[in-house]
Amino acid sequence: MSLFSEIETLKKEKNAIILAHYYVPDEVQVIADFVGDSFALAKKAKETDAKIIVFAGVLFMAESAKLLNPDKKVLIPDMSADCPMAHMAAISKIKKMKEEYEDLAVVCYVNSTAALKAVSDVCVTSSNAVDIVRSLKNQNIFFIPDQHLGSYVKKQVPEKNIILNDGYCITHHAMTKEAALSAKKQHPEALLLVHPECKEEVVQLADYAGSTAGIINFAKSSMNKEFIIGTELGVLCELKKQCPDKTFYPMSEELICSNMKKILVEKVRDCLKEENNEIILDENMMINANKPLEKMLELAS
Ligand code: 13P
Ligand code: SF4
Repeated sequence: MSLFSEIETLKKEKNAIILAHYYVPDEVQVIADFVGDSFALAKKAKETDAKIIVFAGVLFMAESAKLLNPDKKVLIPDMSADCPMAHMAAISKIKKMKEEYEDLAVVCYVNSTAALKAVSDVCVTSSNAVDIVRSLKNQNIFFIPDQHLGSYVKKQVPEKNIILNDGYCITHHAMTKEAALSAKKQHPEALLLVHPECKEEVVQLADYAGSTAGIINFAKSSMNKEFIIGTELGVLCELKKQCPDKTFYPMSEELICSNMKKILVEKVRDCLKEENNEIILDENMMINANKPLEKMLELAS
């Protein structure tokens, strides 16, 4: 039996669903039941009535699926597929900020550990961060962990005091103004589409900044035929599928998330077969970390 039919059989036998992020290898996106950005995946994880969710993505995404579905079995094909940025905020600093500002809202990008979510007020993804922050009553916002998404939101919502943290995504943070300018020079007809996890100097040069799904939708509905892609290159799989008549150029060949690339088809099969690599979280933490995620779903719907 081929690997693909083995996975199909296991999925049916076990009533399992495979959810995949746009950054995992193309072959995994092909076998997935649903591919999306982190917001769409969180929503899908909450809606599904499958008994098992195999989360083809990084650890914080699988944790979010578990938080939204405490009674379901959530499996991740590789437990070491962790997002470094998810850890880049300190609980002690959050406590200090809460003492300093009476009306503080801790806004937590979903790219964060369950422990960080548990001490936050509301979660956001790159697709809804601006709208959610704007809708909050609080004047003082501590945005964790990503400094770049935080600074992007700060620009769009100048009426609030948004305090930035110092976390960053190692993949997007490595992109420079020079790389963006050189790609634009090489492809003068192309529009530059970037993820807001890129530095401000890169976002400023972009024709569009948004989540992975936002980038795909922009390219799909644009009249333009050529685009420079300033996010993890796994997104090219869906872009080429949705826009076969358009041309996409990577802003840099280095836009690779090594953790997302750990999710291989063989590992998907193995974890589904053995039902191992299950996401298990502390019960108390689950209760607290679920609240900001649910609040995000409520505010973003
Ligand atoms: P999206 O929210 O656009 O899916 O991005 C997730 C991510 O990890 C970006 O690096
Ligand atoms: Fe984390 Fe960056 Fe990878 Fe996204 S691309 S999962 S933020 S390391």
